[in-house]
Amino acid sequence: MATSAYQIEGACHEDGRGPSIWDRFSHQRGRTRGGATGDCACDHYHRFREDVALMAGLGIQAYRFSIAWTRILPTGSGDLNPHGLDFYDRLVDELLEWGITPYATLFHYDLPQRLQDQGGWPNRNTALRFGEYAQVIGKRFGDRVDHWITHNEPTITATLGYLTGEHAPGQRNPPAAFRALHHILLSHGLAVQALRTAVQGPARIGIAINLTPIYPATPSAQDCRSADLAHMYYGRMVLDPLLKGCYPAELTPAWIWRRLIERVAREGDLETISTPLDFVGVNYYTRAVFRHAPLIGLRPASPRKAERTQMGWEIYSPGLYDLLARLHADYSHSNLIVTENGAAFPDEVSADGQVHDPRRICYLADHVDQVRRAIADGIPVSGYFVWTLLDNFEWALGYTRRFGLVYVDHDTQQRIPKDSYYWYKKVVSGQ
Ligand code: FCB
Repeated sequence: MATSAYQIEGACHEDGRGPSIWDRFSHQRGRTRGGATGDCACDHYHRFREDVALMAGLGIQAYRFSIAWTRILPTGSGDLNPHGLDFYDRLVDELLEWGITPYATLFHYDLPQRLQDQGGWPNRNTALRFGEYAQVIGKRFGDRVDHWITHNEPTITATLGYLTGEHAPGQRNPPAAFRALHHILLSHGLAVQALRTAVQGPARIGIAINLTPIYPATPSAQDCRSADLAHMYYGRMVLDPLLKGCYPAELTPAWIWRRLIERVAREGDLETISTPLDFVGVNYYTRAVFRHAPLIGLRPASPRKAERTQMGWEIYSPGLYDLLARLHADYSHSNLIVTENGAAFPDEVSADGQVHDPRRICYLADHVDQVRRAIADGIPVSGYFVWTLLDNFEWALGYTRRFGLVYVDHDTQQRIPKDSYYWYKKVVSGQ
């Protein structure tokens, strides 16, 4: 099961937590659906014991959550906030008590506002501060937490935050987005190194990457070339530096990219970025289809009639198998984990007081089958996390999308396990 801090915790102004870019962004007019904010979210900060009990009820072995940087270091660096550390102590202890293995993610979009004021991810300084933050976290929790994820979805942070402006901090500045991506990757490498020294005992460290398998609209050479190009932008821009220590070679002849890389990357950065990992995390929701287009070389060509989730994402479970297989073939990493997979549907409480969500069950069942198929074919997949436990704050879409196995009444905070919750419990127990 996977969640993230800003999407569920609430208590944004409590116990010394500092402001993050999502606090600022969500409070700006027109940024989120209905002006929604994460101020209260699912109130998990106060209800975490109830939520951990719900997870224990499922019988799951592992829980992936994220730590809010500004609960620990309210301005991103400097003085530690003891109340923030205490909260994650309580959470980790509660998980261990129930026999659930914690997977702690250090960053899930919620950059300290103070660091954004100093330039944010486009500023190299942010990467150095992230390394220090990782050190603090590793020292404090490393005696009980063995599994670590540095970043969630580096390309989403960089592109939605600094290129399209759909996510915090809401900028639209292509060179800044590129610099942001490089510094996020650098900060990842620094965090891996910091965790390795700070954690006492064995640390299993990875990263969660949003990956979309790309298919050509037709088998024509032109469409295949477009699909390759899209894969380079969507996948290899992150996978190659992380796992091969270089940006895709095809990028360098393009003068614009070359100039951006030269300006931002310093000697030794790519060695840091490619510090070896214990696992590669894959967040999978859908696939993408591309066809050739004049001038820019590619354009999306998603099938018109496909079945879709409430996000508008095509439901295509074989894409998960294809993605894992390609990742294995291209990078031969010995340990892959599905760090997110799930679906949003417009769930409602029925007259019987229950939440019937057959489409989510179908979605998850098909995707779990694809993971099984991958394992049967010798692809080294060692874990699978459902996104997500609770209906939560879905970023710019506010509370209009429900991804949870547990329904949350956002007025009363009442939790109602959906049919998918009871179904998944059976899957976990092997029935
Ligand atoms: C992923 C994010 C997660 C959630 C799901 C639906 O890209 O990591 O926070 O928004 O999508």
